[in-house]
Amino acid sequence: MSVRKPLPHNAARLHVTGAARYVDDIPTPADCLHLAFGTAEIAFGTINSVNLDAVRAAEGVIGVWEAEDLPSECDCSPSVHDEPLLARDRVMYLGQPVFLVAATSHLAARKAAQLGQITYSEEPAILTIDDAMAAQSQFDGSPRIWQSGDAASAIAEAPHQISGEIEMGGQEHFYLEGQAALVFPQENGDMLVHSSTQHPSEIQHKVAHALHLPMHGVRVETRRMGGGFGGKESQGNALAIACAVVAAETGRAAKMRYDRDDDFTITGKRHDFRIGYTVGYDDQGRVLGLDFLQLARCGWAQDLSFPVADRAMLHADNAYFLPNMRIESHRLKTNTQSATAFRGFGGPQGMLGIERVMDHIAHVLGRDPLAVRRANFYVEGGPSTPHSAEPSPPEDMSGKKKPRGVTHYGQPVEDFELGAMVSRLEESADYATRRAAVDDWNANNPVLKRGIAMTPVKFGISFTLTHLNQAGALVHVYQDGSIQLNHGGTEMGQGLFQKVAQVAATVFGQPMDSIRITATDTGKVPNTSATAASSGSDLNGMAVKIACETIRDRMADFLGTEVAFEDGVVFVDGKDVSFAEAAKRCYEGRVSLSSTGFYKTPKLEWDPVAGRGRPFFYFAYGVSCTEVVIDTLTGENRILRSDILHDAGSSLNPALDVGQVEGGYVQGAGWLTTEELVWDDKGRLRTHAPSTYKIPACSDRPDVFNVDLWASENREDTIYRSKAVGEPPFMHGISVLMALSDAVSACGDRYPDLHAPATAERVLKAVQQVRDGL
Ligand code: MTE
Ligand code: MOS
Repeated sequence: MSVRKPLPHNAARLHVTGAARYVDDIPTPADCLHLAFGTAEIAFGTINSVNLDAVRAAEGVIGVWEAEDLPSECDCSPSVHDEPLLARDRVMYLGQPVFLVAATSHLAARKAAQLGQITYSEEPAILTIDDAMAAQSQFDGSPRIWQSGDAASAIAEAPHQISGEIEMGGQEHFYLEGQAALVFPQENGDMLVHSSTQHPSEIQHKVAHALHLPMHGVRVETRRMGGGFGGKESQGNALAIACAVVAAETGRAAKMRYDRDDDFTITGKRHDFRIGYTVGYDDQGRVLGLDFLQLARCGWAQDLSFPVADRAMLHADNAYFLPNMRIESHRLKTNTQSATAFRGFGGPQGMLGIERVMDHIAHVLGRDPLAVRRANFYVEGGPSTPHSAEPSPPEDMSGKKKPRGVTHYGQPVEDFELGAMVSRLEESADYATRRAAVDDWNANNPVLKRGIAMTPVKFGISFTLTHLNQAGALVHVYQDGSIQLNHGGTEMGQGLFQKVAQVAATVFGQPMDSIRITATDTGKVPNTSATAASSGSDLNGMAVKIACETIRDRMADFLGTEVAFEDGVVFVDGKDVSFAEAAKRCYEGRVSLSSTGFYKTPKLEWDPVAGRGRPFFYFAYGVSCTEVVIDTLTGENRILRSDILHDAGSSLNPALDVGQVEGGYVQGAGWLTTEELVWDDKGRLRTHAPSTYKIPACSDRPDVFNVDLWASENREDTIYRSKAVGEPPFMHGISVLMALSDAVSACGDRYPDLHAPATAERVLKAVQQVRDGL
């Protein structure tokens, strides 16, 4: 069996030798055009005049387009058609594309794009959460409010109450390969699009729409991305549409790739949030009632903000049973880049809210935060399992006892594993001893303070837009026994192709080298969903398995009465023949050796407006423990040790899954510590390059970094009982912020008001506040 083996990524060798082909590496004809956008210099206002004479006259320029020159409005939005490719009359953010240049080289296009002369009537821009709340600048349908039980009464009647607020910044995806597209015009007006996208079907749809073509006239191919992280779910639309427009009008191939600064300035990022809370709790720290106010800064267009903000609401419980809960979620419209999908898709923001609540309660009660977290956990094993150590369930206001195993949106938590996982990590990370050592250190060291924290993750798996939970595959067996497969998922480094190839190899009992996965192609598998919501291997793995089984069963029926596919051969009625021989016999017997496969996730049912139902097929779990040290004179800090235990079900590939856990944790830590986006008061993003925007470097890797997978099968019938692993580990980064907060709290009595990202400056400020009681 190839599944469950820690095999290397199928393209690892290509990646490290530089032979892996990305969009920008695809050979182009000599007359290929290169594109660049001229962008707005103000955040909000009207365009008075556009003079592009200098642009047109610039060396190498072949064509220039303004909004009115386009064949349609060329909408780029993945949701509500509110994103014209080029601004017409009104500018909505600083960096918005206003005109498009096509030139004979990338550099010529970029240089020419600087020469546009645009005059504006500037109006006051809405930039911040405060601006947007003051102006009530919200998208239609906001705020969204979900309630379960009666939060207000439960809070009022609880023995203790606290309120607080946490701010968390956005995050730039910083995929190593920037956004890119390349379009080859075909006969008959058709288009072949190469795009660095997580969502080829969306690119196909948007290009077809822009050019008034039926979808069959556009074929999109995606070999791989050099990272996507959610930033290539919708943000590649503009480049692909721009290239298609130019290709259609000039008959020449057209390529566009953003330079890093343009990528920062033009594209959307993670939503920054402010989350306010009021909580009522008992002497043990158990939450009785909770009221959350989630304010999400969405930028100028809607993009995926509604499902992102919904997912923040869905993860406002994280691992905890919250009997009476009210969440009010505001989706704020601002004159900034349109915030978009980013690993976790709102989940991290929602979770950070409740983790801050747990930490705050523990601080006020003077209890270990881990004890408070445990006291609030969902019941182990699910709602029907009695749990002896658990005190009796709290009553809601109607006097009914609620089972401690149902989320605030009504989905039962059927396989809660965190109690056992936390106990395991507590032991392997030596939490109790190290907590005592940290306290001891802090008592004896005035300058360097240490902190430690352990935080859980429970992450719901499935697209919350239920119809997206489907996938298709196309598998061919050739007469030499080689197997080619294709599915709707895209490869962005996460190892999806390797996992799915292992599935195919397992079904046919063949070695890995007999399997070839071809580039994602809308001409092979139609109507695909984005590779997102961590569900790539769940969905496409199943579709591929179904297709392979169809072919295998046909072959078996033809070959004999007792047929088995194992160990690289086919056993036919007691004799073994090579797979190549078996394939040849089937071909000569006129057996079809090609099949599609289709899968849809069962059990889902969800009403996002009411906030009730079963949005998730299952949950993935994990727990992390981080120890940090801070310098109280400068705010500088380091992670000293990280221990993570993560649930990938029965892992399809433990090596890749551990890689996802390590990478997710580091990216999550980056979000909450060093990665700071700063806009000035004109709405200009001042951090638009690695010189000012700090992603974690190799040297930031913890000195001790222990990552383990929790060995347990998915109780749901997923692909070989594995669990999705792409996004959940991102949220292990929360233990870093909590550990920093723990270190700061060693400086005084007050609860640290540590917001994210906890840069050195913020840590220093928090230290001063706690120390001086400010
Ligand atoms: N890992 C790598 N190396 N590169 C990426 O771009 N994206 C993440 C995660 N892990 C990403 C990654 C995100 S946002 C998602 S949704 C999942 O991978 C998508 O892939 P999957 O569904 O196959 O897990
Ligand atoms: Mo991932 S944010 O769902 O692309």
